[in-house]
Amino acid sequence: MARRLLILLVLVPSFYTLDCQVGDVWVKNFIKFECYSNQRIRLGMRPIGCVPEDRLEGKVIAPGAEYRNEHFFFRCVREGDSLAYKIINCVDDNERVVEIGQFFTRVDGGRRVRVECEGNATEAKKTVVQWTSCTLPSGEKLSEGGIHLRYSKDSSSPQTAEIFSCKRDGPKVSLKCTGCVSSAGDQVVVSGYATVSGVQMQCRRFDDGCRLIKIDSKHMDCTLDGDSYPHDSVFNSSDGINLYYCKHGFLEKRGCFVNGEFVAVGDLTYTGKKPVFCGRERGLSTFGKYTGCTLKNGTVIRFKETVEEGPMMRRCLWTYTGKEINGTKLEAYACVDKESGRRIFAEKYLQKGALHTVLKCSRNADGTLELRQPSTEEFLQYANSALSYNLLLSEIARGGYGNVEWIERLSLDSAGCADRIPFCDQLKPICEFSFSKNLRKLKESLKNSSSATNEALQELEDYGLTSCDRKLESLVEVMCPHTCGTCLSREEVEKRISLIANTNRVKS
Ligand SMILES: *[C@@H]1O[C@H](CO)[C@@H](O)[C@H](O)[C@H]1NC(C)=O
Ligand SMILES: *[C@@H]1O[C@H](CO)[C@@H](O)[C@H](O)[C@H]1NC(C)=O
Ligand SMILES: *[C@@H]1O[C@H](CO)[C@@H](O)[C@H](O)[C@H]1NC(C)=O
Ligand SMILES: *[C@@H]1O[C@H](CO)[C@@H](O)[C@H](O)[C@H]1NC(C)=O
Ligand SMILES: *[C@@H]1O[C@H](CO)[C@@H](O)[C@H](O)[C@H]1NC(C)=O
Repeated sequence: MARRLLILLVLVPSFYTLDCQVGDVWVKNFIKFECYSNQRIRLGMRPIGCVPEDRLEGKVIAPGAEYRNEHFFFRCVREGDSLAYKIINCVDDNERVVEIGQFFTRVDGGRRVRVECEGNATEAKKTVVQWTSCTLPSGEKLSEGGIHLRYSKDSSSPQTAEIFSCKRDGPKVSLKCTGCVSSAGDQVVVSGYATVSGVQMQCRRFDDGCRLIKIDSKHMDCTLDGDSYPHDSVFNSSDGINLYYCKHGFLEKRGCFVNGEFVAVGDLTYTGKKPVFCGRERGLSTFGKYTGCTLKNGTVIRFKETVEEGPMMRRCLWTYTGKEINGTKLEAYACVDKESGRRIFAEKYLQKGALHTVLKCSRNADGTLELRQPSTEEFLQYANSALSYNLLLSEIARGGYGNVEWIERLSLDSAGCADRIPFCDQLKPICEFSFSKNLRKLKESLKNSSSATNEALQELEDYGLTSCDRKLESLVEVMCPHTCGTCLSREEVEKRISLIANTNRVKS
C-alpha cells in the first residue's frame, strides 16, 4: 500500500492539494468545484459549473450555458475533463457585439464614438472613447486635440501664421487661437515672447485671432537696489548672495551663492554640518538647530536625502512657519512598484501589463502612500489628460479554468464506464441532484431515529424505485456512467435496465 501511494504521489502532483471531504464545494478562478468519490475514484475534485461573481454564494452557470453582463459575453465551456469560463466577446451599450480584437466607430452628430475590444478569452478589455471635431472657416473638420495653422497673406509681416487648436473646455469643444508663429520660425503661445530681427514681440489674443505685438523696450527693464537691468540679463545682487534674471520687466531669482558655490532656488547646501537654504525671497535661510532627520533605527540622514521604506520612498524635509524652520519630517513622496522597481510619484499613475492596467500612487489619510487601483473618476481624468479624445469607459473582464483531479482510480470493468450517448453534459443535473442521493442523505441524518421513521423511509425508497424520477435517473446513470461517476458492473446495469423496463404502477 505504501509503495502504491508513493507511485501515486509521483503520478498525481496535486496529491497534496486534494484534502477535501466528499460533498465539499468551493469556487476558484470563476469555477465551482466539488469533492466526490464513486465506484471508480477514491477521492476526486471536479469542476461542476462557472460562477461569474467568483465567490461561493454566486449564481452558478452550467457547462454549456452563457452569461452576459453590461460589457461582456461569457460562456461556461467543457473541454475534456476541464471546465473553462471564457470571455466570448464584448457587448456595446446598444447590445451590439464587438469581437475580441475588433472595434467599430459610430458617428453621432458631431461626435464620433469608438468601441474597442482587446485581449483574449481569459482577459479582455472593453474601451469606449469619443471625440469631437471643430469646423474650420473653410468648412473642413479638425479633430479634437488637433491644430491648424492660418498663414498670413502679408509676406513682409514679422508673423507668418496663427495657431488654432480644437480644444476641449469642460463639455464644450471649440476652435481657439492659441499661439503665433514668427517669421524666424519660433512658435509662441499666447502671452509668450519672441525676438524678431532684434525687436521684442509678444503674442496676444484678439477677437479675430492671435497677433505678434511690438513691446517697448522701456517696459522690459528691471530695477534692483536703484540699478536698471535690460530684459534677458543675468546679474548678482549688490551683497553678492542672490543671482537674478530679468524677464520682460520681471525679476526672477535664479539662485544663491554660498561660499562661492551656486545653489538653485528651492535647494539647500551644507556648510560643514549646518544646512543653508536658498529661498525665493532675498537672502539665505538657516535651519536653526535642525541638521537632518532621524530614521527609526537611529541613523540620521541629511535634508533632501531619500530612503526606501517598504512600498514607498520618503524624503527628509523641514516644516516652515513662514518665519522660521520649526521641525523636520520624513515625507513619503513616491511609491515603489516592487515588480519593476519603478518609482511613481505621489498622485501619479503607473501603467503595467499587456492590458496597460493603471495604478495610482495614492496618499492615505495618515500621509503614507500606496499603489492602488484608481477610482473610475480618477482613471478617466488621467486617461483623458493624455489623450486627444475623451475616454468614456474602460472595463476589464477575466475568465478562468478548472481541472479534474483525483487520488486513486479504483479497478473496474472499464466497458461499463464510457458514456454511451452524447449530451451527457446536459443530462448531468439529473444524476447529480437525484432522488436517491437525497434520500440517502436523509437516511443518514436520521440514522438513530425510531423504527417508525425507518419504516416510512423504507416505503419512500420503494416508492422511489418505481417512480418516474428514479427511473429517469437510473436511465441517465446507465447511459452516462462517466459523466455521472456511476460505473456499474454488468449485473448492476442489467438490474437497473429491468427496473426501468418495469411498467408496474406504484402501489397506493
Ligand atoms: C555672481 O557672483 C558669483 C560669485 O560671487 C560669480 O561667480 C558670478 O560670476 C557672478 N555673476 C554675475 C552675473 O556677475
Ligand atoms: C538604518 O536604515 C537605513 C534605511 O533603511 C539603512 O540605510 C541604514 O544602513 C540603517 N542603519 C543601521 C545602523 O542599521
Ligand atoms: C511648526 O509651526 C507650524 C505653524 O505654527 C505648526 O502648525 C506646526 O505644528 C509646527 N511644527 C512643529 C514640528 O513644531
Ligand atoms: C491572455 O492575455 C493575458 C494578458 O493580456 C496573458 O497573460 C495570457 O497569457 C493570455 N492568455 C492566453 C490563453 O492567451
Ligand atoms: C447513534 O446511536 C449510536 C448508539 O446508540 C451512538 O453511538 C451514535 O453516536 C448515535 N449517532 C448520532 C448521530 O446520534
